[in-house]
Amino acid sequence: MASRTSEHAAFTSPETAWAEQEPADWWRASQAAIRDVIQASGVDPKQIRGVGLTGQMHGAVLLDDAGNVLRPAIIWCDQRTDEQCQWITERVGAKRLLELTCNPALTNFTLTKLLWVRQHEPEIWKKVRHVLLPKDYVRFRLSGEYAIDVADASGTLMLDVTNRRWSEELLGLVDVDKALLPAVFESPEVCAKVSAEAAGITGIPAGTPIVAGAGDQAAGAVGMGITRPGAVSVTLGTSGVVFAATELPSLDPGGRLHTFCHAIPNRWHVMGVTQAAGLSLRWIRDQFCQPGYTYPELTKEAASVPPGCDGVLWAPYLMGERTPHLDSSVRAALTGLAASHTRGHVARAVMEGVAFSQRDSFTIFGELGVPVNKVRVSGGGATSPLWKQIQADVYGHAVETIAADEGGAYGAAILAGVGTGVWPSVDEACDKYIRGAEVTAPIAANKAVMDKQYQRYSRIYPALKAIYQS
Ligand code: XUL
Repeated sequence: MASRTSEHAAFTSPETAWAEQEPADWWRASQAAIRDVIQASGVDPKQIRGVGLTGQMHGAVLLDDAGNVLRPAIIWCDQRTDEQCQWITERVGAKRLLELTCNPALTNFTLTKLLWVRQHEPEIWKKVRHVLLPKDYVRFRLSGEYAIDVADASGTLMLDVTNRRWSEELLGLVDVDKALLPAVFESPEVCAKVSAEAAGITGIPAGTPIVAGAGDQAAGAVGMGITRPGAVSVTLGTSGVVFAATELPSLDPGGRLHTFCHAIPNRWHVMGVTQAAGLSLRWIRDQFCQPGYTYPELTKEAASVPPGCDGVLWAPYLMGERTPHLDSSVRAALTGLAASHTRGHVARAVMEGVAFSQRDSFTIFGELGVPVNKVRVSGGGATSPLWKQIQADVYGHAVETIAADEGGAYGAAILAGVGTGVWPSVDEACDKYIRGAEVTAPIAANKAVMDKQYQRYSRIYPALKAIYQS
């Protein structure tokens, strides 16, 4: 196995809590990573059986008739669409919206971004002929095809998640033309082929099949073997996600968890999302540490502080919050500071606060009867022994890392293998190739402290709400 990464630019925030990126930059970084990985693997390109795609979810890439990008993509964490969420909820009705799409209207979801552009940038909206999600734009550049998978399409608020197809009723109610949307496929289905032009640029032979793939969470879950009920993953990347596979769509009547299609045909998943997980730690590092300061250095400071941080608490609402509050206007808070506290206290409080926020999802799983038999962790939160221990202590479950933690890319490669006949099914591929690595068990004394801190943490949001709603 070989892997290579190539960075694209971070998002820009033209206004507070807005987030935009240039699709061309994703394509540039993808080309570099593809060329590098082919070289690093030593594989003869002719042996490449298929291509799988994954990427950040929910973003809106708007293209004209000729496939030109009309404006920067409004991405998943952008929070400008409160008004559009309200409009959708009033127009469709909260109950009917849940019935049609399995989810409430949230600022993250693609539809709300389309409606914002329709309202605020009518000149651009007039020219829109194709709407794509971020990874699907990369597919478009690789193949010229407009396609999406059911898992990523679930996060648009336009999919009939139960029946795994665009919801004609919903589209009619909000007056969005289905012709703007790409064709929907199951994640392991072949839906495109690498074009001659992209072959020249990337080194993947023309005609190589491309499967539909999945958004980062569903593909990441496949890559971690989260395929059957009872298996749960916690991924701490920029955002943080607690993800559980289900046999049927499992609806949270409060809409606090997302109910989406899994990247496995005939399976679904629920997930809770913390908007600013790794982002919280990066923000502390970038804003309050000297340039060049590293995460290991910051974590070392955090490790010198006892569990519970001598009372310091972090509520990670830097970009509003999804689970469980569904509140785009709340903002983060650091509470309980005394003059004796150090930067280590703040760093550890951030790690604990993110874990408390993830614990909220476990609490809802308990309410809905979603089983939790095994918890696997991934992302930045799995590379730090301290953050792993904090997670085990806060969730009250042992957490396991996996041997090949390649994020969504590993899952996307499995989906490509299944779609091109290398393995008969996603289950069989995962059972064969995904192995657990290290297990971190909760420490009873720490867990007792964390349980108390979690109770205190739970009281922060109502206080913040009172402040920010006025
Ligand atoms: C999931 C979500 C994130 C983004 C960015 O709902 O918003 O996974 O895709 O990683």
